[in-house]
Amino acid sequence: MTITLTQPDDWHVHVRDGEMLARVIPYTAAQFGRALIMPNLDPPVSTVQQALEYRKTILSALPEGSSFDPKMSLYLTDDTTETEVKAAAQCEHILGFKLYPADTTTNSSSGVTRVSSMMNVFESMARHGVVLQVHGEVADPHVDIFDRESVFIDQILFPLHQELPDLGLVLEHVTTRQGVDFVKATNHFVAGTITPHHLMYNRNEMFRGGIRPHNYCLPVLKRETHRQSLVAAATSGDPSFFLGTDSAPQTRSSKQSACGCAGIFSAHAAIEFYAEIFAGLECINKLENFASHFGADFYQLEKNPGKITLNNKTKHIPESIGKDQGAEASDDDIIPLMAGQTLSWSLLLDS
Ligand code: NCD
Ligand code: ZN
Repeated sequence: MTITLTQPDDWHVHVRDGEMLARVIPYTAAQFGRALIMPNLDPPVSTVQQALEYRKTILSALPEGSSFDPKMSLYLTDDTTETEVKAAAQCEHILGFKLYPADTTTNSSSGVTRVSSMMNVFESMARHGVVLQVHGEVADPHVDIFDRESVFIDQILFPLHQELPDLGLVLEHVTTRQGVDFVKATNHFVAGTITPHHLMYNRNEMFRGGIRPHNYCLPVLKRETHRQSLVAAATSGDPSFFLGTDSAPQTRSSKQSACGCAGIFSAHAAIEFYAEIFAGLECINKLENFASHFGADFYQLEKNPGKITLNNKTKHIPESIGKDQGAEASDDDIIPLMAGQTLSWSLLLDS
């Protein structure tokens, strides 16, 4: 069986910089027409000027002939000004600001310490049609890690939406039923991205036969009932839910450690993971809207002109992805999602 789709977009991806950028960007560029690049570098990408420089670096790391178009999200800090919002609104390469509540995830220490102190900036974003991409978790260590998304929605996101109902909001990497319900219950200014790993796995997958650091990400995998809500949302045809992989490359040594860091790398087979999930649920016909249409519509962009073709020829996922193909296993390797396993869908070359 073969299916052809409008070329999809990845509306949430981490591509890092330096050697890691060079290693991972070809995967994203091979599948997606555009992607929303997350700004949590160290130091963060928090101004229009920094984002345009970072975008240039990404463009120069692309394989020759690639027409991949990186779209940028700026890192919102306590110091973000209304002037910066205005400048972002005028730049076609920038699609919004990313709200990391301080200390919730990788490189979030420069994030926002009090969302309620940022109302002027949010009002300005609403006025200029700039979207807020939200890492929806509270940082409070007293809140159970599995509840941090739902508490954030109750305490922060829902009140923010009520106060500014025409502020564009994307609840990034939705992981809970409460997240799905929030997106469904609110207006068309609110959307949610869904990752392949949150569709495939529940929290047992972090502890299957032992601790599995490569399945640890933030927000953390949740229980099965939440996974089922995400699957229902992604395959429902509701235009408020669209593809965002949250592919987040980390080195083997940073994950296989006494305090391993969060992040799952899925860019190597991103569209194939989604195809596998949708096909497994017998709704592959719902994939194109989720992967290629709804996100573009939300961001008021044209759909990609190109097409991609997938067929159900098996694809083997390598055990690790090194700096150089064929090199010895090393601490710097990325361990990809479903390492060593086989998928039943493969991407063919662009048609
Ligand atoms: C992301 C990263 O490594 O940058 N990690 C993750 O587990 N998703 C940060 C993030 O998106 O929270
Ligand atoms: Zn992310």
